[in-house]
Amino acid sequence: MSSSISRYTLAIIKPDILIRQSQCLDSIIQKIETKFNIVNRKQIVLSISEAEQFYNDHRGKFFYERLVGFMSRGPIIPMVLSEKNSQVDSIKSWREFIGPTHAENARKLDCLRGEYGFSDTWNGFHGSGSHDEALNEIKFFFPDFDKTNQ
Ligand code: TYD
Repeated sequence: MSSSISRYTLAIIKPDILIRQSQCLDSIIQKIETKFNIVNRKQIVLSISEAEQFYNDHRGKFFYERLVGFMSRGPIIPMVLSEKNSQVDSIKSWREFIGPTHAENARKLDCLRGEYGFSDTWNGFHGSGSHDEALNEIKFFFPDFDKTNQ
């Protein structure tokens, strides 16, 4: 029987953290590791066309150009995360951990975007929105990732 719980999600620490708050990176990673295993991690800079490809579903929205410009303006840290509690869905748990899209709305909550985000676009973190999205996004950043070997 297949489980409806997603074991992996794709998370990104976005350029605003690495450009403006790199001194916080160690404590952010420590905080993440209280709840998630970091299964894969790398630091890269996206080209504009890679950022366009990653956010293709948002093409045409009012924030698209700003988002693509932001995501390609500095280093990012994509990670494959897995909830330490295997009974808990990693996608849902990570999205709760980062909080709402707009940093202003996140501010009232205990979440990463509330603590480190600046705005709707400069919001510090990404998390996959669904199981299929997670599979595609993991493949985008970690083409060799093989969940059967984990
Ligand atoms: P979305 O998938 O709606 O949010 P989330 O990242 O919380 O899943 O949007 C993707 C990214 O697009 C979001 O992280 C930042 C950017 N964005 C804006 O800049 N302004 C906006 O009003 C929205 C909705 C998103």
